[in-house]
Amino acid sequence: MQSCSEWRRTMAPIEWRSSRIKRMLRLFKLFVVLTCTFMILLVVFYWDNLGTPTDRQQHRHHHHQQQTQRTPPTDPIPVDGTNQSKRAEGRYVPRREWKIHKQRRRLLQEMCAEDSMRFPGKNLSFDDIPNKALDHLIVDDRHGIIYCYVPKVACTNWKQLMIMLSESILEDGVPYTNPQAIPRNIVHNSSSHLTLDKFLNRYSNLSDNLIKVKLKKYTKFLFVRDPFVRLISAFRNKFLENNVNFYKRFGQLILQRYGNQPTPPALASDAFAAGIYPTFSQFVQYLVDPETEKEEPYEEHWRQAYRLCHPCQIQYDFVGHLETQDEDAEHLLRQLRVDNIVEFPATGSRLSLKHSLADWFSMVPLEARKQLYKLYEPDFRLFGYERPVSILEE
Ligand SMILES: *[C@@H]1O[C@H](CO)[C@@H](O)[C@H](O)[C@H]1NC(C)=O
Ligand SMILES: *[C@@H]1O[C@H](CO)[C@@H](O)[C@H](O)[C@H]1NC(C)=O
Ligand SMILES: *[C@@H]1O[C@H](CO)[C@@H](O)[C@H](O)[C@H]1NC(C)=O
Ligand SMILES: *[C@@H]1O[C@H](CO)[C@@H](O)[C@H](O)[C@H]1NC(C)=O
Repeated sequence: MQSCSEWRRTMAPIEWRSSRIKRMLRLFKLFVVLTCTFMILLVVFYWDNLGTPTDRQQHRHHHHQQQTQRTPPTDPIPVDGTNQSKRAEGRYVPRREWKIHKQRRRLLQEMCAEDSMRFPGKNLSFDDIPNKALDHLIVDDRHGIIYCYVPKVACTNWKQLMIMLSESILEDGVPYTNPQAIPRNIVHNSSSHLTLDKFLNRYSNLSDNLIKVKLKKYTKFLFVRDPFVRLISAFRNKFLENNVNFYKRFGQLILQRYGNQPTPPALASDAFAAGIYPTFSQFVQYLVDPETEKEEPYEEHWRQAYRLCHPCQIQYDFVGHLETQDEDAEHLLRQLRVDNIVEFPATGSRLSLKHSLADWFSMVPLEARKQLYKLYEPDFRLFGYERPVSILEE
């Protein structure tokens, strides 16, 4: 605008004798005025367009389909996940899984509404959840997605996917196009992800409303698995696979308190060389001991999914099960409308336990099993896992 009027001012004093030139000048002025008008309209249209996120989403996907490397700027304008999924549902032929996912969502709502179902924090409002407890919710503003990660539930794959989609990490200035190419140390470094707690900390209380809009409009998902199988998986991974860090933080303590070893090796390498590990039964004793929680909250690998993801405060649009991950992933990527740009790696056999649940629990006293079930009961019931009767009754 300003540049246009300045231009007119500088042109005015010049004298033009030839009428032909005057005519040309008039034409040129008209041209300038039209250009200015067009630019104003363009700006107005652009802002208007910002208000209709769905169009922008489609536009964004267009970009992806054309394999454009340059990406549109990141913006926090939310996408209407609810309506989107309804539309997606119309587009695809309904399959068996649709019903299952609706049932899982409904179960979650029913369990949260049920008075007999009690667990710590259930009655809190979202505002009362401490910022720190929102550190497992990863946000992708580009596609309007929130993912709550639960360790030991294929979270590496989903975190990689979130990095790729949100383009939060660049390699040589270019976003990753293959999620599996993102190195593990980057994937599990918390500074690679924009999580809700960071957002709240950064923008303080001004961000409350924006967070609420995101929570309402974005598509929110999580993946869970059988809670006891998850515990066994965590135990094997952190205590049987020579993890120095976990030996120092937990292994020594468990051996001292529940393993009848007042002085376990100080060095993890010595312990591993001598084959000294906590047993699964000792690990369970550690978990059910009330002292454990008094000292510090459960480590995230065994912290209950309901404590990590707040399913009664956040209305998840999608609850994935690791046990049916391949179908669930396919379904979810379609619901997120990113199935055209990314595939989820097939998982297959690594889910099955080498030994049965009964074998793992054979050395755990019945009383401890029951206490353990009480601690994890909300996860069983909220997410639709059956009470493992065979190991809880004599
Ligand atoms: C979905 O879109 C319709 C209009 O197409 C609108 O009336 C409705 O409020 C939307 N639903 C949600 C949950 O935003
Ligand atoms: C939550 O509120 C319900 C009633 O609204 C009550 O019966 C229940 O005891 C409360 N639970 C907790 C853990 O405070
Ligand atoms: C995580 O990433 C940040 C920034 O890239 C880096 O400064 C930090 O050292 C990394 N942390 C770990 C544990 O690798
Ligand atoms: C945000 O918090 C600060 C103190 O931390 C307070 O002074 C300010 O009034 C708050 N602003 C709003 C909008 O609530």
